[in-house]
Amino acid sequence: MRMGGQLTPIAQSYIENFDVVVAAIPNIFTRKWLMGVAKEYICLNDYYADMREDGKNRRNTYRRMADTILAEMRSGKRVCAAFYGHPGIFACISHMAIADARAEGYEAHMEPGISALDCLVADLGIDPGTRGMQSMESTQFMIYQRNIDPTSLLILWQPGIAGELALKKLETNEEYLQVLVDKLTRTYPPEHEVYLYEAATDPLEKARIDKLQLKDLPRAFLKQITTLVIPAAQDLQKDQSIIDQLDAITARRQSARGEMAEQA
Ligand SMILES: C[S@@+](CC[C@H](N)C(=O)[O-])C[C@H]1O[C@@H](n2cnc3c(N)ncnc32)[C@H](O)[C@@H]1O
Repeated sequence: MRMGGQLTPIAQSYIENFDVVVAAIPNIFTRKWLMGVAKEYICLNDYYADMREDGKNRRNTYRRMADTILAEMRSGKRVCAAFYGHPGIFACISHMAIADARAEGYEAHMEPGISALDCLVADLGIDPGTRGMQSMESTQFMIYQRNIDPTSLLILWQPGIAGELALKKLETNEEYLQVLVDKLTRTYPPEHEVYLYEAATDPLEKARIDKLQLKDLPRAFLKQITTLVIPAAQDLQKDQSIIDQLDAITARRQSARGEMAEQA
């Protein structure tokens, strides 16, 4: 997320030592650093222009990015494909490139990185282990039947492009966001407090942590890097039948141990 301090030593070593680094890095400082340290650097940022062509969308762009990584690999180079955050979280290009490389008999692997979710947990002081966590892409949540658990934390990724089904624009609008809110209010009260979160991506920046009521989301300013954080709205409810079942097992095992001790 933030090059200074959040780039793992092993990722840095690959970036500096492999024959070529291929990347679509939005942060200009990170990009300049990569260009300086890589033996050869192939920038994929311009590929996003593909989406403006007729008949093409984000999926074509991602496929073309993966194909560029693979073409470098087939030419015999040791290739490092670099992504921000964790390269395997909401990053289909890395998964496609690794699967295709392995299918062709090449060795390929992924190094984990610090994701937006890791930063979110730290900055918001939320432990996903306390109540459990659901995490999904905003548009996927909108267009599929999903069971949302209001007793756990819900993280919605990419609200800044929520509802953009054509996959041609990297933006949303107030009406799409209203549809998202309407669906969320099947589970949460309209006044439920949610957060818009943006991790700092350079050392001089502070994280954005804006608290707002769910009903105000359509008028909020969302960027491509914004993540929507929806805390639990209800208390956990005990499942007494399971507790009874566990108690019965414990009692049975204790009495069996007692009988064995008596026989001995
Ligand atoms: C294509 S995904 C990439 C995620 C990235 N691979 C990671 O591990 O964080 C883009 C989404 O990640 C989240 N994201 C990316 N940068 C972020 C940031 N600086 N702060 C908070 N969330 C961010 C947003 O939900 C954004 O829409």
